[in-house]
Amino acid sequence: MITKATIDRIMEATDIVEVIGEFVQLKKRGANYVGLSPFANERTPSFTVSPAKGIFKDFSSGKGGSAVTFLMELEKFTYPEALKWLAKKYNIEIEETVETIENKEEENHRESLMIVTAFAAKFFHESLLETEEGTSIGLSYFKERGFSAETIKKFELGYSPDQWEAFSATALKEGYQQQFLEESGLSVKRENGTLYDRYRGRVIFPIHNFTGRVIAFGGRTLKTDKNVPKYVNSPESEIYHKSNVLYGLHFAKKAIREEDNCFLVEGYADVLSVHQAGIENVVASSGTSLTVEQIRLIGRFTKNITILYDGDAAGIKASLRGLDMILEEGLNVKVVLFPDGHDPDSYVRNFGTNGFKKHIAENKKDFILFKADTLLNEAGTDPLKRAEIIREIVESIAKIPDSIKASVFIKECSYLLKIDERALISELNKIRLAKAKKGSAPPPTLATPNEDEIGFEQLESEKRPEGESQEKEIIRLLLLYGNKVIDWDGIANTYIGPFMVAELSDVEFDYPAAKTFVDIYRREVENGVLPDEQYFIHYPEKDIVDLTVNLIATKYTLSDNWYEMHKILVPDEQVNMKATILGAIFHLKKQKVGKILEGLRTALQKTPDEADQEILLNQYMHMKKVEKTISEFLGSVILK
Ligand code: UTP
Ligand code: MN
Repeated sequence: MITKATIDRIMEATDIVEVIGEFVQLKKRGANYVGLSPFANERTPSFTVSPAKGIFKDFSSGKGGSAVTFLMELEKFTYPEALKWLAKKYNIEIEETVETIENKEEENHRESLMIVTAFAAKFFHESLLETEEGTSIGLSYFKERGFSAETIKKFELGYSPDQWEAFSATALKEGYQQQFLEESGLSVKRENGTLYDRYRGRVIFPIHNFTGRVIAFGGRTLKTDKNVPKYVNSPESEIYHKSNVLYGLHFAKKAIREEDNCFLVEGYADVLSVHQAGIENVVASSGTSLTVEQIRLIGRFTKNITILYDGDAAGIKASLRGLDMILEEGLNVKVVLFPDGHDPDSYVRNFGTNGFKKHIAENKKDFILFKADTLLNEAGTDPLKRAEIIREIVESIAKIPDSIKASVFIKECSYLLKIDERALISELNKIRLAKAKKGSAPPPTLATPNEDEIGFEQLESEKRPEGESQEKEIIRLLLLYGNKVIDWDGIANTYIGPFMVAELSDVEFDYPAAKTFVDIYRREVENGVLPDEQYFIHYPEKDIVDLTVNLIATKYTLSDNWYEMHKILVPDEQVNMKATILGAIFHLKKQKVGKILEGLRTALQKTPDEADQEILLNQYMHMKKVEKTISEFLGSVILK
């Protein structure tokens, strides 16, 4: 774990405007900065950064938080990754404490592997650029393929000398342990226990994870011999899980976000050529069929995937089924075919950036329509085959979670397949019902889009736990006034925060983030600390930061006429602080008592046993009295 002292130093050094400024163009407006939301497509800036509070709030997407949460949201870093990014930016050395021995060992193990892969990437890259064999064989190959020096450097391409032990011997001499050389797959153990190099005589494509560290390699042979495998790739290891990795994502993620689209290609060479042509939102599945994990990885950055296929018909048909998975994840899929004999790599090299973009613009098809087209062409006029295909297509549509989108496809397919829309809808509803019966969450059947949407919204609001607003009001007051001193008649010399948590010690919070918040607050108070706004803005749990920022960053508090709004809004509640604080506490208590009463009423109705009934009735009467006391108290406090 990163030590508290290090975290404090990072927080002190961090300038939120500077950090966010690396990703978003910010303009100063009053005390704040504004810019276009990096999380939503917008034309008028609603993304606000408050340097004074050290927070950002994006009114388009609702996201908000500290510089750390910003990096977690945008770059999809974990908490420690975000801290490490900041530490690097501000040249702060990271101190870590040993967590549990097991954790530390696992972490050490992964770290050791990544140190070895980083060393190997450097070794291969230098072999490519600085050795005679590397330049004459590897570098000349890359150049012939049209890769620029810049691309070679950016993607850290390399060359593994055509000798049995060039890499392994160097690594051992430099002190890298045999265990990690083997586990990372860079070296292979002979029967006599010695090591030899896996990638001998191959050009090297290092594979980076999405934070940019090398975790694996692909090595391409330069021989045309059919008996030699074209690529040799790293085996699975603790740092490399093939199904979770997309080649090029680290270099593509910024552009994916900006373009709100991700191009998916098959090979390393496709990624490099397309990227080099200035189209940087491109990643490869590296020859394997796409996995759910990979789709989710893309889904963190955009909901739009455009798959670029080479024009080989067999391959396309094989992958049509797999693509339904992308629909299930709620992503929009478009497909572009390249003419026979071309892949994205060769096409962009032949026709340039503009020709490539033009081809995509003119040929991209929505996946469902692409599938319908491809399958129908094949079926010809055979009515039985056509019926089967229609069912298959409706099955794909049934996987789209967004029913409005689904209904759009139904319309388009009805046109394309020349089938009555109502027949398609009825088929779709049949599939959905069958699925719902099978279990899991029942998807709504398709009615008119409008009705559907209203139903959905109602569901959302019904799901909110009762009393959430009362609980949040407590948190808001703790944040705003927790460290103010109470100066009411009868109570003095105590802070509002500790007073509130003490008064609420008998209340069970239902809303999870609020419960955690109050638990933290109580714990800190017991430790003699009075946690303030900044404490919670920088708390290492996202739920807590979200709750905090949502409560303190409103359009009013962050906008220019803040003071004006302030004068109107805040004095109101500050004039009678006692009423504000006690009002919030007892409103919450009243709500909880109401809930208990309701529970007792239900229990009473259900119990046939008279003795039980009497006990319940007694409890009920008691709670009724409590409710009355609270109501009276609320009346007197609020009215005074
Ligand atoms: P390709 O054969 O299309 O490779 O396989 P490529 O990258 O376009 O290579 P060039 O253009 O011939 O140089 C697509 C991807 O499938 C994986 C690799 O990730 C490759 O980039 N693959 C292919 C393997 O892992 N092993 C193989 O033997 C072949
Ligand atoms: Mn290729």
